[in-house]
Amino acid sequence: MQLSDLINNLPPYHFADAKKKIAERRAAGVDVISLSMGDPDLPAPQSVIDRLCLEIQNTENHRYPEYFGMRALHLAFAAWFKRRFDVRLTPERDMLPLLGSKEGLAYVAAAVLDAGDISLIPDPYYPVYVTGSTSVGAIPYMLPLREQNSYLPDLDSIPADVLAKARLLWLNYPNNPTAACADRAFFEHAVAFAQRHNLVIVHDMAYAEVYFDDYRPMSILQVPGASEVAVELHSLSKTYNMAGFRVGMLVGNAELVNAVGRLKSNIDSGMFRPIQYAAIEALNLPASWLEERNAIYRRRRDLLVEGCNALGMRAHKTTAGLYVWATVPGGYSARDFANWLFDQTGVFLTPGTNFGDAGEGYVRISMTAPEERIATALKRMKEALS
Ligand SMILES: Cc1ncc(COP(=O)(O)O)c(C=O)c1O
Repeated sequence: MQLSDLINNLPPYHFADAKKKIAERRAAGVDVISLSMGDPDLPAPQSVIDRLCLEIQNTENHRYPEYFGMRALHLAFAAWFKRRFDVRLTPERDMLPLLGSKEGLAYVAAAVLDAGDISLIPDPYYPVYVTGSTSVGAIPYMLPLREQNSYLPDLDSIPADVLAKARLLWLNYPNNPTAACADRAFFEHAVAFAQRHNLVIVHDMAYAEVYFDDYRPMSILQVPGASEVAVELHSLSKTYNMAGFRVGMLVGNAELVNAVGRLKSNIDSGMFRPIQYAAIEALNLPASWLEERNAIYRRRRDLLVEGCNALGMRAHKTTAGLYVWATVPGGYSARDFANWLFDQTGVFLTPGTNFGDAGEGYVRISMTAPEERIATALKRMKEALS
């Protein structure tokens, strides 16, 4: 069959390949420890599960859902956003439920970019920023994220001829894969920059609620005037251990939110109502639920950061996000090291280059495994490396 250029130019999704590789190795009897995907191993909150079970019994909920989400979900999200960021969103106007934030990223790209436009993408990046852009014919322009710049893009170094054609700027803090965070000064600069150069900012905040110690990531919408130029994506996947439920939210610039709603309603038919009720339950959880969950991740982070540094894999103590970003030891490329380690130990890490060329020299280690498995992984790594 002759397939489209879009498909022919689309790379396979790394994590789909990774899952296959892990399954094959497990089938061959290897005790694989996957510290690869950011797929929370901890359970969804019990109240969420109970509400889902309750609502699924109501056959009214089996019909087509609302295209743009139930009002009750909008109200719950707006209340959560006000509590969390002290920003007031207007239900229905400023927000759109998504079947996970991943699809929202692709829809935003399609709603903003035309063929030949430039899409400004910090590198390393979450893969959809690139494929969402290229699938509508836009041209990625990479902004390398360097350790010495605290993994923030240097917006002022973008050449004028690139800026003239640029329409979209992607940002993602807390960052995947580097786990870097951005401060208010950076977001203020980015908003002013977007206003000056007529850019749309997409801020991907999938890791908004995984944070440690006293740190609290901020929303770009806390910057005055941000909603003129920016949208932000939220997700219940990492926030409430609900990755399989597929609940995300697009918030911010009302015109763009509306445009994405128009596009999306032409393609899918909304979110299963019992899942929307379950999402409402999650958004109403007390802060103590997050504190307890984040305390678990904090212990895992400490274990991993200390363990990596002891192995000569330099890693910073992160303040947010699900990952540790560590240097590759011994002159290997990121991919060769990850493959070698998997063969030697059954420990599966993600090479930094899966997220772009700027990820060379690093591996991303996910904290989504219990402490004893992380300790076993580190022990195996130590044996292999010595
Ligand atoms: C940076 C980033 N954005 C978005 C997503 C998508 O999350 P979801 O579609 O589960 O909301 C992920 C998932 O790993 C991610 O790492």
